[in-house]
Amino acid sequence: MEITLSHKMIEFGESIFNKLANYKKQKIREGHDIIDLSVGSPDFPPPSFVIETLATHVQDPSLYGYSLTGIDELHSAISEYYLRRFDVSVKKDNEVLMVMGSQDGLVHFPMVFANTGDLILVPDPGYTAYAAGIALAGATPYGMPLKEENQFLPDLDAIPEDVCQKAKLMILNFPGNPVPALATECFFKQVIEFAKKYSIIILHDFAYSELYFEEKPISFISVDGAKEVGVEFNSLSKSFNMAGCRIGYIIGNPEIIAAVNRLKSNLDYGLFLPIQKAAIAALHDTSSFSENLREIYKKRRDILVNGLAEVGWKVESPKASMFVWAKVPIGFTSTDFTIRLIDEAGIIVTPGNAFGPSGEGYVRIGLVQSEEILGKAVQRLKGIPLLK
Ligand SMILES: Cc1ncc(COP(=O)(O)O)c(C=O)c1O
Repeated sequence: MEITLSHKMIEFGESIFNKLANYKKQKIREGHDIIDLSVGSPDFPPPSFVIETLATHVQDPSLYGYSLTGIDELHSAISEYYLRRFDVSVKKDNEVLMVMGSQDGLVHFPMVFANTGDLILVPDPGYTAYAAGIALAGATPYGMPLKEENQFLPDLDAIPEDVCQKAKLMILNFPGNPVPALATECFFKQVIEFAKKYSIIILHDFAYSELYFEEKPISFISVDGAKEVGVEFNSLSKSFNMAGCRIGYIIGNPEIIAAVNRLKSNLDYGLFLPIQKAAIAALHDTSSFSENLREIYKKRRDILVNGLAEVGWKVESPKASMFVWAKVPIGFTSTDFTIRLIDEAGIIVTPGNAFGPSGEGYVRIGLVQSEEILGKAVQRLKGIPLLK
């Protein structure tokens, strides 16, 4: 039988991450020692008390049914956490929705609000799940370039009037992946005004809210008027190293939350209850876990950024997230440079153009290896002609 795929699948080619993973396997088979700085997955465990809470509740046979939704105690924990960390008041009954990692929410959100042909404003470069969700919705992305001269914030005035009129949704992400920029309150205020003027829903992805160095990022929902126009996505993946648990949440506008809940209640039966219990423990934590995590990433950042400067590759030091967004040396495309780095130094990074056309000329380097391995990566760069 011939298997034919749907038209939608045309949008889902092999991802660059798969291609890089295959090239990495080939290199390892050939006997090369590869340092992989291309993934965005934390390499640390969750806090031990989170693992213990999970282990305890996994033993409870009453917690193996469908959960359907987030339990009340978890919604309360999110509400308390947002108040404590971001000075934001969130009503636990109608302003919170649990998702199976923010990815689940991100890929399903566009189809709740956009019809075929509607435009969705996205950061360019931006996290790859945004494009996936837009493709599933049959909508069309409109990239808002993130340029160095604008501190990597989208220029709302540069969006043509007809695009503003047709847009249903704007996706933002600060601190961002792959561009580790921070938003300002002034920028978020402009966004809210823009959203009201054109009736555009705002989705702010705040997955890196706890990974910052010098300056604490602001929650979009903390800005006056934000709840009227949008929602914020957050996740326990990066803040508590719980990426494999698949647990995230959306907070903000109750009408938007209810609409997404309507879709979600037709898609899945909720999160495993022991994972919800573990998340409650994480969110209630007032120990220095997050602070220590930030310190570790900061040390890694400094080793890498200073080391790269020593080998003649000057890159901007990120203020937040777990990535360095580095301009490739003159004369290279993102892809050429990535391949040469693998071939000459055995180091894998992600070419910036994998995240959108405005990512051309950059690579994303993940702070996802130990200080020792990052130091080793720098040493390897010293010995190759690529950066000379
Ligand atoms: C910007 C951004 N948003 C969302 C996600 C997805 O996170 P989660 O594990 O909550 O699905 C990631 C994961 O890397 C990310 O970088």
